[in-house]
Amino acid sequence: MTNFFQNKVVVVTGGSNGIGKALVDALIHAGAKVATCGRSQEKLYDLQVLHSGHHLHTKVADVSNYNDCKNFIDSTIQVFGCIDILINNAGISMRALLKDADTEVIKKVMEINFFGTLYCTKLSLDCIIKQKGSVVAVSSIAGFRGLPGRSGYSASKFAMNGFMESLRTELKDDGVNVLWVCPGFTASNIRNAALNSEGKSQGESPLDESKLMTAETCAKHILRAIENRKRTLVLTFNGKRTVFMNKFFPRLTDRLVKNFFFKKGVLVK
Ligand SMILES: NC(=O)c1ccc[n+]([C@@H]2O[C@H](COP(=O)([O-])OP(=O)(O)OC[C@H]3O[C@@H](n4cnc5c(N)ncnc54)[C@H](OP(=O)(O)O)[C@@H]3O)[C@@H](O)[C@H]2O)c1
Repeated sequence: MTNFFQNKVVVVTGGSNGIGKALVDALIHAGAKVATCGRSQEKLYDLQVLHSGHHLHTKVADVSNYNDCKNFIDSTIQVFGCIDILINNAGISMRALLKDADTEVIKKVMEINFFGTLYCTKLSLDCIIKQKGSVVAVSSIAGFRGLPGRSGYSASKFAMNGFMESLRTELKDDGVNVLWVCPGFTASNIRNAALNSEGKSQGESPLDESKLMTAETCAKHILRAIENRKRTLVLTFNGKRTVFMNKFFPRLTDRLVKNFFFKKGVLVK
């Protein structure tokens, strides 16, 4: 990595696990001043211990709560003076068919993934415009192609993509780069934490996590895309194939996606 991130102020929401933590680790290593949040004080404390002596600001904040986001972003500006780059990464998933799922599950996923992105972006926007920096959203392949058992998750990621595209157009002449990233399956805690039909963490992953892209590799791609001021980034071979197939062969893709997620009519992934 070049010294592009040296001394830049980078906010990563949800930096205590998975892709967010890999981003925080890589950014600290690259000499950035990093601010991150999450709901668990304990995990943020561990991160502070890991990076003690470096420029790391952490705050307990639930991104679905506007006041938490305000405290987090305001305190970051107080500590570091400005924000150059915001990476809206915090997110949760779900695994339940709509016919079984409580609508509160879908609402919660939307509140974290979409409204969390809205709040943090709105609260840091003046700073980022002043710095001619970047706004980034960690979306998903599920934001290009609706996935079964993840209707709320797909809805939240489609919403994020539309929001970011609107913002990019609004900021076209302001020197701000707007990027959204669509990782494919990446090893992390997301499937363990995914909400079931009753809104509880399912506590297991239906995939073999050891066969997936690592969070560190995903973070490396994201940081390179930020440095190169890319518009969008779609990751993994499967992810790129899904986006391509869905664009040109949508009916066939319905069948392929159904076959991937269901066995004998039962959702298995
Ligand atoms: N892993 C994949 O296969 C994959 C694929 C495509 C897209 N993505 C996207 O990548 C992003 C990161 O996911 P991940 O896979 O790294 O998941 P992860 O391992 O579960 O990490 C999620 C992070 O977000 C934080 N978080 C969750 N809810 C939050 C909330 N309400 N407020 C603040 N922080 C919150 C978590 O900390 P706390 O739990 O302590 O709050 C954790 O630090 C998500 O937006 C996800 O949709 C992941």
